[in-house]
Amino acid sequence: IQWYPGHMAKAKRQMKEILKVIDVVLELVDARAPESSHISDIKDIVGEKPIIRVLNKEDLAQKEVTEKWQNYYKEKGIISFSVDSVHKSGIKEIIGYIKNIKKQKNGVVRCMVMGVPNVGKSSFINQLAGRKSAKTGDIPGITKGKMWLKVNKDLELLDTPGILWPKFEKRDAGVKLAILGCIKEEIYNPEKIALILIKFISLKFRKELMERFKLDSPGNPEDILREIGEKRGCLLAGGRIDTLKASKIILKEFRDGKIGKISLEEPCDNEFWEIYNESVD
Ligand code: GTP
Repeated sequence: IQWYPGHMAKAKRQMKEILKVIDVVLELVDARAPESSHISDIKDIVGEKPIIRVLNKEDLAQKEVTEKWQNYYKEKGIISFSVDSVHKSGIKEIIGYIKNIKKQKNGVVRCMVMGVPNVGKSSFINQLAGRKSAKTGDIPGITKGKMWLKVNKDLELLDTPGILWPKFEKRDAGVKLAILGCIKEEIYNPEKIALILIKFISLKFRKELMERFKLDSPGNPEDILREIGEKRGCLLAGGRIDTLKASKIILKEFRDGKIGKISLEEPCDNEFWEIYNESVD
Protein backbone atom coordinates (compact mmCIF):
# COMPACT_ATOMS: atom_id res chain seq x y z
CA ILE A 1 0.00 0.00 0.00
CA GLN A 2 1.50 3.25 -1.15
CA TRP A 3 0.05 6.58 -0.21
CA TYR A 4 1.19 9.97 0.91
CA PRO A 5 -1.24 12.83 0.27
CA GLY A 6 0.26 15.83 -1.43
CA HIS A 7 -1.32 18.34 0.91
CA MET A 8 0.51 16.79 3.83
CA ALA A 9 3.40 19.23 3.85
CA LYS A 10 0.98 22.15 4.14
CA ALA A 11 -0.99 20.48 6.92
CA LYS A 12 2.24 19.79 8.81
CA ARG A 13 3.27 23.44 8.51
CA GLN A 14 -0.10 24.58 9.87
CA MET A 15 0.22 22.12 12.71
CA LYS A 16 3.64 23.52 13.63
CA GLU A 17 2.10 26.98 13.85
CA ILE A 18 -0.65 25.79 16.21
CA LEU A 19 1.84 23.85 18.30
CA LYS A 20 3.43 27.11 19.45
CA VAL A 21 0.62 27.51 21.98
CA ILE A 22 0.23 23.84 22.91
CA ASP A 23 1.73 22.43 26.11
CA VAL A 24 0.89 18.75 25.73
CA VAL A 25 0.14 16.57 22.71
CA LEU A 26 -2.20 13.63 23.12
CA GLU A 27 -1.35 11.16 20.38
CA LEU A 28 -4.21 8.75 19.84
CA VAL A 29 -3.41 5.30 18.53
CA ASP A 30 -5.62 2.24 18.07
CA ALA A 31 -5.11 -0.16 20.98
CA ARG A 32 -5.38 -3.10 18.55
CA ALA A 33 -2.25 -1.93 16.71
CA PRO A 34 -0.55 0.78 18.78
CA GLU A 35 2.70 0.73 16.85
CA SER A 36 1.27 0.58 13.34
CA SER A 37 -1.14 3.42 14.08
CA HIS A 38 1.57 5.49 15.76
CA ILE A 39 3.13 8.26 13.71
CA SER A 40 6.79 7.40 13.56
CA ASP A 41 7.85 10.97 12.79
CA ILE A 42 5.57 12.72 15.28
CA LYS A 43 8.61 14.09 17.10
CA ASP A 44 9.65 15.96 13.92
CA ILE A 45 6.26 17.63 13.96
CA VAL A 46 5.82 18.42 17.64
CA GLY A 47 9.47 19.02 18.57
CA GLU A 48 10.11 19.15 22.28
CA LYS A 49 6.46 19.13 23.36
CA PRO A 50 5.57 16.32 25.74
CA ILE A 51 3.58 13.56 24.04
CA ILE A 52 1.16 11.29 25.84
CA ARG A 53 0.30 8.15 23.92
CA VAL A 54 -3.36 7.26 24.27
CA LEU A 55 -4.34 3.70 23.32
CA ASN A 56 -7.93 4.25 22.29
CA LYS A 57 -10.61 1.62 21.61
CA GLU A 58 -9.27 -0.51 24.46
CA ASP A 59 -12.68 -2.21 24.56
CA LEU A 60 -11.92 -3.77 21.16
CA ALA A 61 -8.42 -5.03 22.02
CA GLN A 62 -7.27 -7.99 24.13
CA LYS A 63 -6.85 -6.70 27.66
CA GLU A 64 -3.68 -8.68 28.32
CA VAL A 65 -2.08 -7.45 25.09
CA THR A 66 -2.89 -3.83 25.91
CA GLU A 67 -1.21 -4.38 29.29
CA LYS A 68 1.87 -5.74 27.52
CA TRP A 69 1.96 -2.58 25.41
CA GLN A 70 1.72 -0.36 28.45
CA ASN A 71 4.55 -2.21 30.18
CA TYR A 72 6.61 -1.98 27.00
CA TYR A 73 6.04 1.77 26.79
CA LYS A 74 6.85 2.18 30.46
CA GLU A 75 10.21 0.47 29.90
CA LYS A 76 10.89 2.84 27.03
CA GLY A 77 9.97 5.88 29.11
CA ILE A 78 6.87 6.64 27.02
CA ILE A 79 3.83 7.89 28.94
CA SER A 80 0.77 5.94 27.91
CA PHE A 81 -2.87 5.51 28.88
CA SER A 82 -5.51 3.17 27.58
CA VAL A 83 -9.04 4.46 27.07
CA ASP A 84 -12.43 3.64 25.65
CA SER A 85 -13.94 6.78 24.19
CA VAL A 86 -17.38 5.27 23.78
CA HIS A 87 -17.92 4.02 27.32
CA LYS A 88 -15.68 6.68 28.81
CA SER A 89 -13.13 4.62 30.65
CA GLY A 90 -9.60 5.84 31.35
CA ILE A 91 -10.49 9.49 30.75
CA LYS A 92 -10.28 10.55 34.40
CA GLU A 93 -6.75 9.19 34.68
CA ILE A 94 -5.58 11.37 31.81
CA ILE A 95 -7.17 14.47 33.30
CA GLY A 96 -5.43 13.64 36.60
CA TYR A 97 -2.09 13.30 34.89
CA ILE A 98 -2.46 16.64 33.11
CA LYS A 99 -3.42 18.26 36.40
CA ASN A 100 0.02 17.28 37.67
CA ILE A 101 1.68 18.96 34.72
CA LYS A 102 -0.30 22.06 35.66
CA LYS A 103 1.47 22.15 39.00
CA GLN A 104 4.74 22.68 37.16
CA LYS A 105 3.34 25.32 34.88
CA ASN A 106 1.81 28.67 35.68
CA GLY A 107 -1.52 29.07 34.00
CA VAL A 108 -3.76 26.84 32.00
CA VAL A 109 -2.44 23.73 30.24
CA ARG A 110 -3.35 23.58 26.55
CA CYS A 111 -3.68 20.22 24.84
CA MET A 112 -4.09 19.04 21.32
CA VAL A 113 -5.28 15.65 20.10
CA MET A 114 -3.50 14.11 17.12
CA GLY A 115 -3.75 10.84 15.31
CA VAL A 116 -4.36 8.98 12.08
CA PRO A 117 -7.88 8.99 10.56
CA ASN A 118 -10.57 7.02 12.37
CA VAL A 119 -8.66 6.29 15.61
CA GLY A 120 -11.43 8.08 17.49
CA LYS A 121 -10.07 11.59 17.92
CA SER A 122 -13.46 13.32 17.85
CA SER A 123 -15.03 10.77 20.21
CA PHE A 124 -12.10 11.16 22.60
CA ILE A 125 -12.28 14.97 22.54
CA ASN A 126 -16.00 14.80 23.31
CA GLN A 127 -15.38 12.52 26.27
CA LEU A 128 -12.46 14.51 27.61
CA ALA A 129 -14.22 17.84 27.27
CA GLY A 130 -17.53 16.49 28.57
CA ARG A 131 -20.95 17.87 27.90
CA LYS A 132 -20.60 20.79 30.27
CA SER A 133 -17.51 22.20 28.63
CA ALA A 134 -17.86 25.71 27.33
CA LYS A 135 -16.25 26.87 24.17
CA THR A 136 -13.79 29.69 24.57
CA GLY A 137 -12.44 31.93 21.86
CA ASP A 138 -9.48 31.39 19.60
CA ILE A 139 -6.02 32.71 20.13
CA PRO A 140 -5.85 35.45 17.51
CA GLY A 141 -3.41 34.92 14.71
CA ILE A 142 -2.55 31.39 15.67
CA THR A 143 -5.62 29.29 16.20
CA LYS A 144 -7.90 31.37 14.01
CA GLY A 145 -11.27 29.75 13.50
CA LYS A 146 -10.46 27.07 16.04
CA MET A 147 -12.15 26.88 19.38
CA TRP A 148 -10.82 25.89 22.75
CA LEU A 149 -12.86 23.61 24.94
CA LYS A 150 -12.47 24.33 28.61
CA VAL A 151 -12.26 20.97 30.38
CA ASN A 152 -11.69 22.53 33.81
CA LYS A 153 -9.91 25.55 35.21
CA ASP A 154 -6.52 23.97 34.56
CA LEU A 155 -7.05 22.44 31.15
CA GLU A 156 -8.08 23.61 27.70
CA LEU A 157 -8.39 21.42 24.65
CA LEU A 158 -8.30 22.42 21.02
CA ASP A 159 -11.58 21.31 19.47
CA THR A 160 -10.10 20.41 16.09
CA PRO A 161 -7.93 17.32 16.10
CA GLY A 162 -4.76 17.18 14.05
CA ILE A 163 -4.93 14.45 11.47
CA LEU A 164 -1.62 12.81 10.76
CA TRP A 165 -0.64 10.59 7.87
CA PRO A 166 1.42 7.55 8.59
CA LYS A 167 4.63 6.76 6.84
CA PHE A 168 4.83 3.02 6.70
CA GLU A 169 8.13 1.89 8.10
CA LYS A 170 7.13 -1.73 7.91
CA ARG A 171 4.89 -2.55 5.01
CA ASP A 172 2.50 -4.66 7.05
CA ALA A 173 1.61 -1.54 9.05
CA GLY A 174 -0.32 -0.35 5.99
CA VAL A 175 -2.32 -3.57 5.98
CA LYS A 176 -3.19 -3.18 9.65
CA LEU A 177 -4.27 0.42 9.08
CA ALA A 178 -6.49 -0.75 6.22
CA ILE A 179 -8.01 -3.42 8.47
CA LEU A 180 -8.67 -0.80 11.16
CA GLY A 181 -10.35 1.55 8.70
CA CYS A 182 -7.69 4.27 8.88
CA ILE A 183 -7.07 4.27 5.13
CA LYS A 184 -9.48 5.21 2.36
CA GLU A 185 -10.95 2.17 0.67
CA GLU A 186 -10.04 3.38 -2.82
CA ILE A 187 -6.36 2.79 -2.26
CA TYR A 188 -6.37 -0.81 -1.16
CA ASN A 189 -7.88 -4.05 -2.36
CA PRO A 190 -10.49 -5.09 0.25
CA GLU A 191 -10.34 -8.73 -0.80
CA LYS A 192 -6.60 -8.96 -0.28
CA ILE A 193 -6.89 -7.24 3.09
CA ALA A 194 -9.82 -9.42 4.16
CA LEU A 195 -7.92 -12.60 3.25
CA ILE A 196 -4.93 -11.52 5.36
CA LEU A 197 -7.29 -10.73 8.24
CA ILE A 198 -9.01 -14.12 7.94
CA LYS A 199 -5.65 -15.87 7.97
CA PHE A 200 -4.63 -13.94 11.08
CA ILE A 201 -7.91 -14.48 12.95
CA SER A 202 -7.90 -18.19 12.06
CA LEU A 203 -4.66 -18.64 13.98
CA LYS A 204 -5.98 -17.79 17.43
CA PHE A 205 -9.64 -16.95 17.05
CA ARG A 206 -10.92 -19.64 14.73
CA LYS A 207 -13.77 -20.53 17.09
CA GLU A 208 -14.96 -16.92 17.27
CA LEU A 209 -14.76 -16.60 13.49
CA MET A 210 -16.72 -19.82 12.95
CA GLU A 211 -19.37 -18.75 15.44
CA ARG A 212 -19.77 -15.24 14.13
CA PHE A 213 -20.36 -16.31 10.55
CA LYS A 214 -21.87 -19.71 11.34
CA LEU A 215 -19.25 -21.43 9.22
CA ASP A 216 -19.59 -25.16 8.69
CA SER A 217 -16.01 -26.23 8.16
CA PRO A 218 -12.77 -24.35 8.66
CA GLY A 219 -11.06 -24.19 5.27
CA ASN A 220 -8.38 -21.98 3.79
CA PRO A 221 -8.93 -18.19 3.83
CA GLU A 222 -10.39 -18.18 0.30
CA ASP A 223 -12.92 -20.87 1.26
CA ILE A 224 -13.81 -19.05 4.45
CA LEU A 225 -14.38 -15.80 2.54
CA ARG A 226 -16.64 -17.57 0.06
CA GLU A 227 -18.58 -19.22 2.86
CA ILE A 228 -19.04 -15.88 4.60
CA GLY A 229 -20.45 -14.56 1.31
CA GLU A 230 -22.75 -17.53 1.05
CA LYS A 231 -23.98 -17.28 4.62
CA ARG A 232 -24.63 -13.56 4.29
CA GLY A 233 -26.34 -13.79 0.93
CA CYS A 234 -23.67 -11.95 -1.06
CA LEU A 235 -24.56 -13.17 -4.51
CA LEU A 236 -23.83 -11.85 -7.96
CA ALA A 237 -26.00 -12.38 -11.03
CA GLY A 238 -25.80 -16.03 -12.03
CA GLY A 239 -25.43 -17.14 -8.42
CA ARG A 240 -21.69 -16.50 -8.10
CA ILE A 241 -20.51 -15.39 -4.67
CA ASP A 242 -19.71 -11.71 -4.31
CA THR A 243 -16.41 -12.02 -2.46
CA LEU A 244 -15.85 -8.25 -2.54
CA LYS A 245 -19.04 -7.70 -0.59
CA ALA A 246 -18.10 -10.51 1.80
CA SER A 247 -14.70 -8.86 2.31
CA LYS A 248 -16.31 -5.57 3.24
CA ILE A 249 -18.59 -7.36 5.70
CA ILE A 250 -15.78 -9.09 7.58
CA LEU A 251 -13.70 -5.91 7.66
CA LYS A 252 -16.60 -3.89 9.03
CA GLU A 253 -17.47 -6.49 11.65
CA PHE A 254 -13.85 -6.76 12.75
CA ARG A 255 -13.61 -2.95 13.09
CA ASP A 256 -16.77 -2.89 15.17
CA GLY A 257 -15.49 -5.65 17.45
CA LYS A 258 -18.24 -8.06 16.42
CA ILE A 259 -15.89 -11.02 16.02
CA GLY A 260 -14.29 -10.51 19.41
CA LYS A 261 -11.64 -8.51 21.20
CA ILE A 262 -8.71 -9.03 18.88
CA SER A 263 -5.36 -7.23 18.93
CA LEU A 264 -3.37 -7.21 15.70
CA GLU A 265 0.05 -6.81 17.25
CA GLU A 266 2.04 -7.33 20.40
CA PRO A 267 5.30 -5.62 21.30
CA CYS A 268 8.15 -7.17 19.30
CA ASP A 269 6.09 -9.89 17.62
CA ASN A 270 6.36 -10.98 14.02
CA GLU A 271 3.27 -13.09 13.57
CA PHE A 272 1.45 -10.64 11.35
CA TRP A 273 4.60 -9.83 9.41
CA GLU A 274 4.98 -13.50 8.46
CA ILE A 275 1.38 -13.80 7.28
CA TYR A 276 1.80 -10.62 5.31
CA ASN A 277 4.92 -11.89 3.59
CA GLU A 278 3.27 -15.18 2.70
CA SER A 279 0.31 -13.29 1.26
CA VAL A 280 2.03 -10.83 -1.09
CA ASP A 281 2.46 -12.00 -4.63
P1 GTP B 1 -11.42 11.27 11.53
O1 GTP B 1 -12.20 12.53 11.75
O2 GTP B 1 -11.83 10.50 10.30
O3 GTP B 1 -9.95 11.44 11.62
O4 GTP B 1 -11.88 10.25 12.72
P2 GTP B 1 -11.68 10.40 14.28
O5 GTP B 1 -10.29 10.01 14.63
O6 GTP B 1 -12.17 11.70 14.75
O7 GTP B 1 -12.61 9.20 14.80
P3 GTP B 1 -14.11 9.25 15.37
O8 GTP B 1 -14.16 9.88 16.70
O9 GTP B 1 -14.99 9.78 14.31
O10 GTP B 1 -14.36 7.68 15.58
C1 GTP B 1 -14.31 6.74 14.51
C2 GTP B 1 -15.18 5.55 14.85
O11 GTP B 1 -14.64 4.84 15.96
C3 GTP B 1 -16.61 5.94 15.29
O12 GTP B 1 -17.50 4.99 14.77
C4 GTP B 1 -16.54 5.88 16.80
O13 GTP B 1 -17.79 5.58 17.38
C5 GTP B 1 -15.58 4.73 17.02
N1 GTP B 1 -14.83 4.84 18.29
C6 GTP B 1 -14.09 5.88 18.73
N2 GTP B 1 -13.52 5.62 19.91
C7 GTP B 1 -13.91 4.36 20.26
C8 GTP B 1 -13.64 3.51 21.38
O14 GTP B 1 -12.90 3.83 22.31
N3 GTP B 1 -14.25 2.28 21.36
C9 GTP B 1 -15.05 1.87 20.34
N4 GTP B 1 -15.61 0.67 20.43
N5 GTP B 1 -15.30 2.65 19.27
C10 GTP B 1 -14.74 3.87 19.23
